[in-house]
Amino acid sequence: MPRTIVVTSALPYANGPIHIGHLVEYVQTDIWVRFQKMCGHRCFYFCADDTHGTPVMISARAAGITPEQLIEQVHQEHREAFDRFYVQFDNYYTTHSPENKAFSELIFERLNRAGSIVKRGVEQTYCEKDQMWLPDRFVRGTCPRCGATDQYGDSCAVCGATYRPTDLVDPHCAVCGTPPVLRMSEHYFFKLSDYEQPLRDLIAAGYTQKSVANMLEEWFQAGLRDWDISRDGPYFGFKIPGEENKYFYVWLDAPIGYMASAKNYCDRHGLDFEELWNSRANELYHFIGKDIIYFHALFWPAMLIGAGIKTANKLFVHGHLTIYGEKMSKSTGTFIKASTYARHLDPEFLRYYYASKLTDLVEDIELGITDFINKTNADLVGKYANLASRSGPMLARQLESRLGTLDDEGRRLVGKLTEAKEQIVRDYEGLDYAAAVRTISALADEANRYVEHKQPWATIKTDREKTRTTLTAVLNTVKILTIYLKPILPKFAQKVEKFLSVEELSFADVERPLENRRIGAFERLFERIDEEQVTAMVEESKEGQAPPPATPVPAAVPAEPFKPECTIDDFAKIDLRVARVVTAERVPGADKLLRLILDVGGVQKNVFAGIAKAYEPEALTGKMVIFFANLKPRQMKWGLSEGMILASGSGGKDVFMLTVDPGATPGRKIS
Ligand code: MSP
Ligand code: ZN
Repeated sequence: MPRTIVVTSALPYANGPIHIGHLVEYVQTDIWVRFQKMCGHRCFYFCADDTHGTPVMISARAAGITPEQLIEQVHQEHREAFDRFYVQFDNYYTTHSPENKAFSELIFERLNRAGSIVKRGVEQTYCEKDQMWLPDRFVRGTCPRCGATDQYGDSCAVCGATYRPTDLVDPHCAVCGTPPVLRMSEHYFFKLSDYEQPLRDLIAAGYTQKSVANMLEEWFQAGLRDWDISRDGPYFGFKIPGEENKYFYVWLDAPIGYMASAKNYCDRHGLDFEELWNSRANELYHFIGKDIIYFHALFWPAMLIGAGIKTANKLFVHGHLTIYGEKMSKSTGTFIKASTYARHLDPEFLRYYYASKLTDLVEDIELGITDFINKTNADLVGKYANLASRSGPMLARQLESRLGTLDDEGRRLVGKLTEAKEQIVRDYEGLDYAAAVRTISALADEANRYVEHKQPWATIKTDREKTRTTLTAVLNTVKILTIYLKPILPKFAQKVEKFLSVEELSFADVERPLENRRIGAFERLFERIDEEQVTAMVEESKEGQAPPPATPVPAAVPAEPFKPECTIDDFAKIDLRVARVVTAERVPGADKLLRLILDVGGVQKNVFAGIAKAYEPEALTGKMVIFFANLKPRQMKWGLSEGMILASGSGGKDVFMLTVDPGATPGRKIS
């Protein structure tokens, strides 16, 4: 039975370009939507630019244009980036639209009538020179805890302290440098806690992945606080009805933008929006990144429940892109814009790479540059393109482009690929693209082995019809693999369709063999990546020189300042355990590090320790060391480090590990 499925991705901010981090999400969603459409379902993919808020207003001011002009420019750029990466929305709209204004007012009105909106005074920072209210991030100053200068008003990037902008020492406006003043103003609040029970019910019914539900439970435990949904002018957004100078906070109208995009589409295509969006018979899914869970798992469904509108069937949350285990960074050239990438490399390479890493888990996606090059060359070029290029051109040039019929052996091979369909469909549906890619690539190996075994390049000299039979089998595997890959590689699929002379392939075509028909002209499918292209892309992504660190690094000796005070309670949080070194080995490319596997009483932990200059790895096996067991795990370039072993010294060879009696029990607590 065809389903009707409405899908959204988070709305990208209109104050910056699309980068390859964003693309994790849009590629993930686009693959799913293409997959659903290829299964014959009615599926709609809606998105828009998230245009409102202070950053857009300030960027426009700085550029000497109106916010409307700015968002129009960015809209074009975003559209181009998505087109380049084959992200195909049914509607890519904007939150600065009449539909969105109408829905925002409607929902606000309904929440108000439900008694979920309250008004109260708030003290906030205001810049008298710029005559505007300053969001936390627009106040900068010295961290009250560690003294680092030039920190944001909400948290310190050096010591991690969080605080209010007014706690900063020497606070100043990020735009003009003037010290802000505190002013009182009336704000509207949404009483989120009114919706705790319905939200809990929604989550219990499977609204999110398991790990997200666990996180939400912690937030419930901590208590749901009222949400400030208004901002005073000047502000780029929608005015609150009945107010002269108050606007909806950008995050109120942003998710409503999903509905506005759908409404705009329905109006242009003669569809009934109310039916499409609100009917229980239709499915609705939101794809988002893990940084905006609070908004989509609490505020947004609460607003919908309060306003009597259907909530989504499911929220699909993905992790973030990391490169060398770190967030994208402008100084190292890993902040790569979609447009920069597309100037150097084929966008389908990135789609395939992401697909090969994406699962339904909320885990970060590591883009390993070497891994990316290897996977692309091995799979796309070496397996899929290779299979087509060793069969298509030969049939075209030497066998009049005509396919024959499958023999038993060919049917067996094709049957094997066909059988995998059910599992691949399940994996796509369940967002386990990594599993789908593994299956597909193993099937391609199988088909390539068949070619090796059949040696058509040799048999063509002696037995043309036998060779035709072989190539018919091979081209049928090309067809099936192409169907399986088509959600990920739409352009590749289009080229293959053209050269096989078939209509647009869908999942229903898997079981329909191509026999006794002509194929078209072969077109080259993929070119190998060479490392220089990647280097050039990274170079282009580096922003001039590496920016100076936010705080000058103080001279290490002799007058290094003490860190902020640490109480005995802070100290007591450290969980020290006896651990036995199971294995120790050098880390290629890191001459100071050893990788240790520790036995901490039945659990094994992986640790990278900076002791390679002082200890030979062989000498460490079996040693009993002291392990800092509850240190937050850290993703390093080489892998996850899940703690620390205790050692001290001035560095290099001068490092001494603390060891304990070899008779001690691993896992025992140390006080
Ligand atoms: N405008 C808000 C969303 C409003 S939805 C009603 C926003 N915009 S964003 O441009 O910052 O991010 C858009 C989406 O891209 C988010 O789901 C975000 O998680 C995702 N990503 C942005 N950077 C990312 C990575 N580096 N890695 C993976 N996804 C990331 O949030
Ligand atoms: Zn200012």
